[in-house]
Amino acid sequence: MREIPAASGQPAPPVTREQADWAIRFDYHGMTAEAIGGEHGVSEAELGAAAEAATAAHATVGRRHTAGELAWLDLPEQRDEVREVETLAAEIRERCDTFVVLGIGGSALGNTAVHTALAHPFHNLLPRERRGGPRLFVLDNVDPSWLAAFHEVVDLRRTVFNVITKSGSTAETMAQLQCFAGLLRDAVGGPALRDHLIATTDPRGGDLRRLVEREGLRSLAIPPGVGGRFSVLSAVGLLSAAVAGIDVRELLAGAASAVSACAQPDPRRNPALMNATLQWLLYRRGKVISVMMPYSQRLRDLADWFRQLWAESLGKRLTCSGEERSVGPTPIKALGVTDQHSQVQLYVEGPNNKVINFLSVARFDRDLAIPETFAGLPSASYLAGHTFGELMHAEERGTAIALTAARRPHCTHLLPEVRAHTVGQLLMLLQLQTAYAGELFEVNAYDQPGVEAGKIAAFALMGRPGYEQQRAEISAAARPHGEHVSPIP
Ligand code: PA5
Repeated sequence: MREIPAASGQPAPPVTREQADWAIRFDYHGMTAEAIGGEHGVSEAELGAAAEAATAAHATVGRRHTAGELAWLDLPEQRDEVREVETLAAEIRERCDTFVVLGIGGSALGNTAVHTALAHPFHNLLPRERRGGPRLFVLDNVDPSWLAAFHEVVDLRRTVFNVITKSGSTAETMAQLQCFAGLLRDAVGGPALRDHLIATTDPRGGDLRRLVEREGLRSLAIPPGVGGRFSVLSAVGLLSAAVAGIDVRELLAGAASAVSACAQPDPRRNPALMNATLQWLLYRRGKVISVMMPYSQRLRDLADWFRQLWAESLGKRLTCSGEERSVGPTPIKALGVTDQHSQVQLYVEGPNNKVINFLSVARFDRDLAIPETFAGLPSASYLAGHTFGELMHAEERGTAIALTAARRPHCTHLLPEVRAHTVGQLLMLLQLQTAYAGELFEVNAYDQPGVEAGKIAAFALMGRPGYEQQRAEISAAARPHGEHVSPIP
């Protein structure tokens, strides 16, 4: 297999920061009336009319930041925390074979997103000397079959667990913690637990913090004002990244440059504000589904991370002023080119109720030549002489052309490369976009009352003290067994 580091076919010299322009570009032409017509695209006049709301959204985010509510915007400036993470990561890289994240939602999705984007795509399969550190697993579910199978393949004596929960009380994470801490105690002995378990949680509150103090566990803090889905650039996401050898300083430098790129209140000079405004305008015109479609295997899980960010932040019954509105775009993730053979038919010809957000990569870190292995085969020979990178780009362009022809709104975040700096930019751009969108939709982007309701029901069903009343209500409402259930013959 011939690997081509650059499109030229010659090995590419290492790209220095001075040579490369790593700024992400946001191309929204495909959302405009000029590209797809006035019925489905946003006109200049509409955008002009929305400028006031956009500027107000920008001002509110700024005000809340100044008031200390949005501490996630300060994460790129962390210094001591980064040093602490790097020191801990270096020690873990040295002495363990497997690193496991126990967490869920915002305490897991960012870890996976960053790892998939920036570690070797087959990190866990590499030999130890090429990996340079431990394998990484993010266990963000409580499916017993999966957890038991994991226990079968892991050597606990060479494993470090990082339990992450901001609240310190999430049932799934607390169950995992008890399970694996118990197994660890048996495997390594009680006093050694400290070497195998690191807690990442609130600096002061919550049961996990209490446990840290009681058991003398090592811990990292999630700063106040940094909620779960906005925490990827805190210790939550940084430790597993650093353990995998990812340059967390570059990640944060990228995030810092995105904050600077979004300093202006004019949407035309602020990409996150522009996208939030366009998505909001299009939502109001019936484009209620937002598809994120990376044309990059590495960015696949970043779309998953964003799905939670967009859904949990914007999907709200009540507006900030208490009006019942039940708003929120539905985020979907798709993967180019894979889902061209699964989803794109729907996107091009189904209901015109979606915005397609491409994540595009100008230059892949590797490219492969397509060889002519079977000469004279019409459906194969023409591909020879091209690269897989070219094929990827041609397919992405083809999808955009088809969407334009069908008058479907779409936009692109174009990353020069997938590297720590650009991934940091993208994470911050999308968080800012969500913050602005929260203001435009007039909802609180930082709470999740709908999730809390389910959590409370689960506490009640699992017998947590203090939830007896809810348990009684659930029992009273239970349907007779079999009602509305069709038997499967
Ligand atoms: O974004 C959020 O706040 C949630 O998705 C949380 O991350 C998730 O519920 C897990 O919460 P915790 O970190 O408290 O365990």
